[in-house]
Amino acid sequence: MTEPAPRAGVIGWPVDHSRSPLIHAFWLNHFRLPGSYERLPIPPEAASNLKQILRSGGFVGANVTLPHKEIAATCADWIDPSAAELGAVNTLWFEGDRLMASNTDGYGFLANLDEREPGWDRSTNKAVVLGAGGASRAIIQALLQRGFDAVWILNRTVTKAERLTERFGPRCRAAALSQAETILPAADVLVNTTAVGMKGEGAFDFSLQRLSPDAVVTDIVYTPLETALLKAARNRGLTCVDGLGMLLHQAGPGFEKWFGQRPRVTAALREHVLEDLGHAA
Ligand code: ATR
Repeated sequence: MTEPAPRAGVIGWPVDHSRSPLIHAFWLNHFRLPGSYERLPIPPEAASNLKQILRSGGFVGANVTLPHKEIAATCADWIDPSAAELGAVNTLWFEGDRLMASNTDGYGFLANLDEREPGWDRSTNKAVVLGAGGASRAIIQALLQRGFDAVWILNRTVTKAERLTERFGPRCRAAALSQAETILPAADVLVNTTAVGMKGEGAFDFSLQRLSPDAVVTDIVYTPLETALLKAARNRGLTCVDGLGMLLHQAGPGFEKWFGQRPRVTAALREHVLEDLGHAA
């Protein structure tokens, strides 16, 4: 009997907006591999059954997106230690009957900067992260893993930032977003993890004037590709890295687990996804 073609997908609720199917279809086509990658809308009441859902559908694994990253972590039989620290996963795969889980968001974030701005981490004294929501955690962890001495978490609601400093330890500091202008000088890297700068979500009201001319500014938002923060940074002549590459890079490890080939993030893939974003805009 021949093996069925590997079946993978992305679990979320809703999941229509996900660009992951586009990325994985591009790589399946590139390697001429049999297999599929589907959108898997799973309502919250069914999410604790992820393992059975995947097993009964004959899936080799899946990505997990909002709002299921936390519950998926509780469904796995094994969880990678970094993902366990976050309490959230985005990549699932089977090893025999065991459901394994990891989180590739931090990897995607670092790989994007490494690819687009090699040397961005030349100085690892101080990083500033805007936001303290779900998306900020993988970024804070990644910056700490890369060796930053201090990671400042600035949030509109300062108590949420303080909770993250308790979680991630003494190299993290918390402050209110309103303090940004006093904290930005001496930052090597500035990262936005909030929805601010997306269409209809307004813009930050602080100035980037006091950022060092050597600072690198990046955003995890990629719709629009140039967020209000990146535009302000570009106008100041600062080095900017957009968030699209994080999406592309975080997809690679899952593809390798499910389909057996390590894919590359190429200019052609980026163009392909950009074209789709353009159509969707
Ligand atoms: P996600 O999982 O995408 O991070 P979230 O957990 O709802 O979403 O977190 C949203 C983040 O964006 C929070 O840091 C939020 O700040 P608060 O904790 O003060 O709510 C931040 N955010 C959203 N809208 C904002 C705005 N208009 N100005 C400043 N920060 C904002």
